[in-house]
Amino acid sequence: MIDGAGYDLVLFVGDLAGLRLKGTLAVARVIAQLRTPVLVMPGNHDAPNAMQLLGEMWGSRALIRLGERGTGPRRDAIADALGPGVLAGYSVHDLGSDLQMVAARPHSMGGPSLSFAPFLAARYGVASLQDSADKLIALVDGCTAPNLLFLGHNGPTGLGDRRDALWGCDFRSEQGDFGDPDLEAAIAHAVGAGRRVVGVVAGHMHHRLRGGGHRAWRAEQQGTLFVNAARVPRIWTDRVGVERRHHVAIRWTDGVLTAQEEIW
Ligand SMILES: [Fe+2]
Repeated sequence: MIDGAGYDLVLFVGDLAGLRLKGTLAVARVIAQLRTPVLVMPGNHDAPNAMQLLGEMWGSRALIRLGERGTGPRRDAIADALGPGVLAGYSVHDLGSDLQMVAARPHSMGGPSLSFAPFLAARYGVASLQDSADKLIALVDGCTAPNLLFLGHNGPTGLGDRRDALWGCDFRSEQGDFGDPDLEAAIAHAVGAGRRVVGVVAGHMHHRLRGGGHRAWRAEQQGTLFVNAARVPRIWTDRVGVERRHHVAIRWTDGVLTAQEEIW
């Protein structure tokens, strides 16, 4: 269906399946069948295993380290399963003569600490959020287009600290901003360097909130369009038994970026 919609590119914001690699690889193989070019930003459920996720949630370095072995091969297996699809992260992608996309930190779990630090250090030389911000800033500085779009698994800090903000924390009673500070730093650097940051597309923080309600999925701030595409589940059956599929259509026309939810 997506192939018939005439899109130039399909972006996936990550967390392709659940906790098991088998499911992730199955989804990646389906994505590989698309004829439309594909970019996938891996999420915290893509390559990290349950032990690492628990380690991150509990703040246990021992568990994170114990689970870390095999993260690289799991990530590479996902990249292979995607076929011609590109697994992004700390990378720059040309989207036309006047627009480039900076793919931010892969596998982000959100919040004020660096998720899966041993893996990011081994794979990307990133051992801290400051390292990550520096790496993203270097990517921005290497861009040649006047307009930039950022792709993340989780969005940046700075969009609000209420539970229903685009990347607000809905799993703690005190709420808070659960965005990625390194991504906010890179965006601020780009703006300061005279780039036009036209948009930021990410996911991770589900639209449906714990405790009820839905978060905002789109916001505009100082000329930048922020999109949280994490409607979960993306495919569901409605009240009359019809299967529905969700995605966000992003259009770049005459120097203007727009986003619209599409439900088929
Ligand atoms: Fe996630």
